[in-house]
Amino acid sequence: MTKAYKLIDHVYDVVVVGAGGAGLRATLGLAEAGLSTACITKVFPTRSHTVAAQGGISASLGNMGEDDWRWHMYDTVKGGDYLGDQDAIEYMTREAVPAVIELEHYGVPFSRTEEGKIYQRPFGGMTTHFGEGTAHRTCAAADRTGHAMLHALYQQSLKHQAEFFIEYFALDLLMENGVCRGLIAWDLATGTLHRFVAQQTILATGGYGRTYFSCTSAHTCTGDGNGMVLRAGLPLQDMEFVQFHPTGIYGAGCLITEGVRGEGGYLTNSQGERFMERYAPSAKDLASRDVVSRAMTIEIREGRGVGPEKDHMLLYLQHLGPEVIHERLPGIAETARIFAGVDVLKEPIPVLPTAHYNMGGIPTNYHGEALTLKDGNPDTVIPGLMAIGEAACVSVHGGNRLGSNSLLDLVVFGRSAAHRCAASVKPGETPRGYPKESSDIILERFDRLRNAAGSRPTADIRLRMQKVMQSDAAVFRTGKTLEEGRQRLRQVFDSFADVKVADHSLIWNTDLVETLELDNLLACAIVTMDSARNRTESRGAHAREDYPERDDKNWMKHTLAWMDARGNARIDYRPVHSYTMTDDIRPFPPKKRVY
Ligand code: FUM
Repeated sequence: MTKAYKLIDHVYDVVVVGAGGAGLRATLGLAEAGLSTACITKVFPTRSHTVAAQGGISASLGNMGEDDWRWHMYDTVKGGDYLGDQDAIEYMTREAVPAVIELEHYGVPFSRTEEGKIYQRPFGGMTTHFGEGTAHRTCAAADRTGHAMLHALYQQSLKHQAEFFIEYFALDLLMENGVCRGLIAWDLATGTLHRFVAQQTILATGGYGRTYFSCTSAHTCTGDGNGMVLRAGLPLQDMEFVQFHPTGIYGAGCLITEGVRGEGGYLTNSQGERFMERYAPSAKDLASRDVVSRAMTIEIREGRGVGPEKDHMLLYLQHLGPEVIHERLPGIAETARIFAGVDVLKEPIPVLPTAHYNMGGIPTNYHGEALTLKDGNPDTVIPGLMAIGEAACVSVHGGNRLGSNSLLDLVVFGRSAAHRCAASVKPGETPRGYPKESSDIILERFDRLRNAAGSRPTADIRLRMQKVMQSDAAVFRTGKTLEEGRQRLRQVFDSFADVKVADHSLIWNTDLVETLELDNLLACAIVTMDSARNRTESRGAHAREDYPERDDKNWMKHTLAWMDARGNARIDYRPVHSYTMTDDIRPFPPKKRVY
């Protein structure tokens, strides 16, 4: 059967999968370093989900008030509820400054202050003097920062002769004796199959927001890299930590940037009360996202929601005036008009917490090297495999990511992965032998799904999965909802054996693409639910009503989750790096949260 498929072979020094902010920053750095680099992407690079990032990228430039990377580090450790690896957080916050200046030099059109410096706005959880004041730390290109970054990075990658394989869908990793040798991808336009071998394969495939019914993520956010890693018998880390953004548009899910609240917007309940003053007297509407999302959920539960169903909140910004809205928030004005029918100069936007970001993913160190637990060593590097961006779990966000630390993570770790490859990859020395057994396994799966002749359409199975995740792995969780969710998800997983793919062609077969994506999503959903059920404490975005306290004694550790072919998850742990890179900054010990 697999002989029916002819593989077209390619050899590169490095292959990057994904062309969002992380993938493009890595691709650019690799090409700049003179390594032959292929970037494989299922969508045109400037359509990657980073394009939707609105509010900005954090860096302690201090352009609009005092700032220091140590304060940024402190905020990130605290915002992540002490689960983040502090060596990696130190690296990210320290490198933020040169990484953003580099972006400026690459041509990102940042908004400007009167003196011509990069404009910086306040964002939730970003403080000065270790929690005392409000930092202006989020560098913005109006409310289209991700869009501006993607265009500059793609242009720079082309300038440095990186090669792009656009609208190629990555199927699986070529694994040989525990080493990653590359991958096989399907060219959607010609229907041909391509085998890429390389010394390093970098997964920059983004998150898996589409496991949820309501999310701010693009339809393409289907956890493809995470699915590949699980099928390769490798673990994912901290998958129970799913961030809900407080301000998704009610009904549509589209993001309304936290930058709105950074510029002075605020939330109200049905009584017109600015309820965040009660939940976070000091940070108010700019408390971290987990806090605001939980407060909104409580308001709705207690009957103070807005609308006929009392099921959402209102976000006010008309008091900011047309000048600020047109100059700083033009994108959300348009989004609110199209998706909520609201003129933000006159009316508030109806909003609801919406799945937004996955703190969990492929475990890596701060060089981007993928890790596994082997022979008792939880930091064992998987030869040939790296991961960056939302697909990865470095872990810099711990249990909860601060807004604008995501664009930063993409750029800093895309850059660091390129640096690591420049130091370790030998140009032109990729071994030519092609892993045959692994190739056959990949083609067999592809053929099986292509010809799946069951009775259930992909879209039906996907919808059932999304409804289970939405109701049972939500802002608040209990052991009961998670166990029910686990059982319901098991039924959904089993029903995938009966999936029906109606289109068997190889060219622009979106039916098959969505089925392959669903396979990846289901794997992510299973390990998310199991990891959440397993963690009997509340930390960051993981709020267990039956275990409301953070439990540092038993749970100051990362979850590792594997999944077998039958959909059974296995769980183990990795210690948190509660140490820093250098001696001049001390680790931040856990503190009780005061808002
Ligand atoms: O609210 C926002 O603009 C989102 C930013 C982020 O998730 O970092």
